[in-house]
Amino acid sequence: MDDVEGARTFGVAGATYDSFMGRYSRPLAAQFADAAGVRGGHTAVDVGCGPGALTAVLVDRLGAEAVAACDPAPGFVQECAARHPGVVVGLGRAESLPFETGRFDHALAQLVLHFVSDPELAARELMRVVRSGGTVSACVWDFDEGMEMLRSFWDATLDLDPDAPDEARTLRFGRQGEIVQLFERVGLVDVAESELRVESQYVDFDELWNGFLAGVGPAGAYCTSLADDDRQRLHRALFERLGRPGGSFTLGAVARCAVARNPG
Ligand SMILES: C[S@@+](CC[C@H](N)C(=O)[O-])C[C@H]1O[C@@H](n2cnc3c(N)ncnc32)[C@H](O)[C@@H]1O
Repeated sequence: MDDVEGARTFGVAGATYDSFMGRYSRPLAAQFADAAGVRGGHTAVDVGCGPGALTAVLVDRLGAEAVAACDPAPGFVQECAARHPGVVVGLGRAESLPFETGRFDHALAQLVLHFVSDPELAARELMRVVRSGGTVSACVWDFDEGMEMLRSFWDATLDLDPDAPDEARTLRFGRQGEIVQLFERVGLVDVAESELRVESQYVDFDELWNGFLAGVGPAGAYCTSLADDDRQRLHRALFERLGRPGGSFTLGAVARCAVARNPG
C-alpha cells in the first residue's frame, strides 16, 4: 500500500499503542458501539482499527464472523488479526475501503477521521459499504478542552514553542458539529451527535511521559523529534502543568461522536 500520511506515526507495536492511546480507546469503544446501536445479529466494519480496541467490542457483541476491520498501518493489521482470530482484517485506508458495497449493517471509524487526507471521500466510502438503512458512525477526540492528556501536552509545548503543531490546530473534527456537517454533505441522514467521556489512571508521571517517548501519533512524534535539552524542558513544563503529581492521577477525555443512516 502507498505511504498513507495519517498512518506514519502509527508504526509501533500494539502494546506500545495501548499504553499511550489504547488505554483511552478501549473504554471509548464500548460507548461508541452503544451510540451506533450495534447489537447481536448485525455485521460491522471497524475502519482505522489500529490494534483493535473497537474490533474487540464488536467481536464480543456480534461474533468474529460478523466483523471486519482495516487499517493502513501494516503492523496494526497484523496485530489486530492476531488478537481477533476469525475477523477479516485488511490493509486499507478509509478513502478506498477493501470491502464490497452494501456488505455491513454498521461502518464505524473511531479516532480516525482527523487523520484522513480526504474526509469527504472517506465518508462516502463508509456510506458505500453499509446497506441501505445501515449506520455510519465516527468519533474524534475534542482536542480543545476535552482530551486532557493531549491538551496538557500541547499546552506545555506551546509555552516553549508557540509554533508547535498543536493538534487542536492541525487536526479536524474535534469540535461540535464538524462530523455532522461532513456526514450531511455526503448525503447521510438522521445524523445524531453525542459526547463520549472516558478517563485513564496513571500510576505516576513517568508512566504518562513514557507514553510520549514511545513516539505514537502526532504528540509522540513531536516529542521524540526534539533535541534532548528541549525534551527535558518539555518534561518539566508538562510536570508543572499537571500540578507536579507525586503519585497516581487520572486524566479525562471527551470525544465528539456522530451516528447517521444511509438512506440507500
Ligand atoms: C488514534 S488511532 C485509532 C485506532 C483505533 N481505531 C482505536 O480507537 O484505538 C488512528 C488510526 O487511524 C489509522 N489511519 C490513519 N490514516 C488513515 C486513513 N486514511 N484511513 C484509515 N485509517 C487511517 C492509523 O493507522 C491508526 O491506526
